[in-house]
Amino acid sequence: MSKLISRLILSCCAIAIIWFSQMPMAQAANPAELSKAVEEIEYLDATRSGLASSLEGRTEPPTKQTMKEVCKPVGMRAKQLSMENNWQVKQIATKYRNPNHAPQSETEENALELFEQNPDLIGFWQKDTVSGEMGDRYFRRINVESSCLACHGAKNSRPDFVKANYPEDHAFDFQVGDLRGMYSVFVPEIQAGLKAALQ
Ligand code: HEC
Repeated sequence: MSKLISRLILSCCAIAIIWFSQMPMAQAANPAELSKAVEEIEYLDATRSGLASSLEGRTEPPTKQTMKEVCKPVGMRAKQLSMENNWQVKQIATKYRNPNHAPQSETEENALELFEQNPDLIGFWQKDTVSGEMGDRYFRRINVESSCLACHGAKNSRPDFVKANYPEDHAFDFQVGDLRGMYSVFVPEIQAGLKAALQ
């Protein structure tokens, strides 16, 4: 008799585990992962500022090679972060240089507008759905510093390689303190490994 009861309890447990594992995940992504996303973006932004100010001390004008040392690596690191973490990391700007960085949705336009209207707002999270997946999305402002003006200052003083390589460039005529754009990190609620385990 007691054997029957323990079997009954065991089967109930098994059913409960299967049931719970199939429940849609309504809760937010892991808080540690969300803080990691913020840290990575802070690091990325500080890297760009560091690279740009190291150019300031040089006497020769920036060349295609030195350009690669500033904003290109930031874009490459964003792609790498996306792949490593199953996030979607982007740079977005109304006045973009690389057309891949144009805002693509009303959510993105609204976030840029919010930063524009609130100069003290550094970053914020919001719920979002990207390609049918629910998740949390972090937006972080990017401001113009004096070291950026070598390539994002007056239209005519842009380096030749910028004029040549970006015929549809809009990323010039900025002043120090202007909003240059923002980073966006989408963190899906269900991570790739967990999703595979549930299928
Ligand atoms: C040496 C030239 C150079 C300097 C200095 C520079 N940038 Fe850029 N920036 C570029 C180029 C070139 C691109 C386009 C890169 C690409 O194709 O993804 C770019 C792109 C960007 C983008 C991505 C959005 C867009 O317009 O495509 C942001 C944001 C940005 N720069 C911010 C900054 C900030 C902030 C600074 C100063 C801290 C800075 N840049 C300094 C050359 C520069």
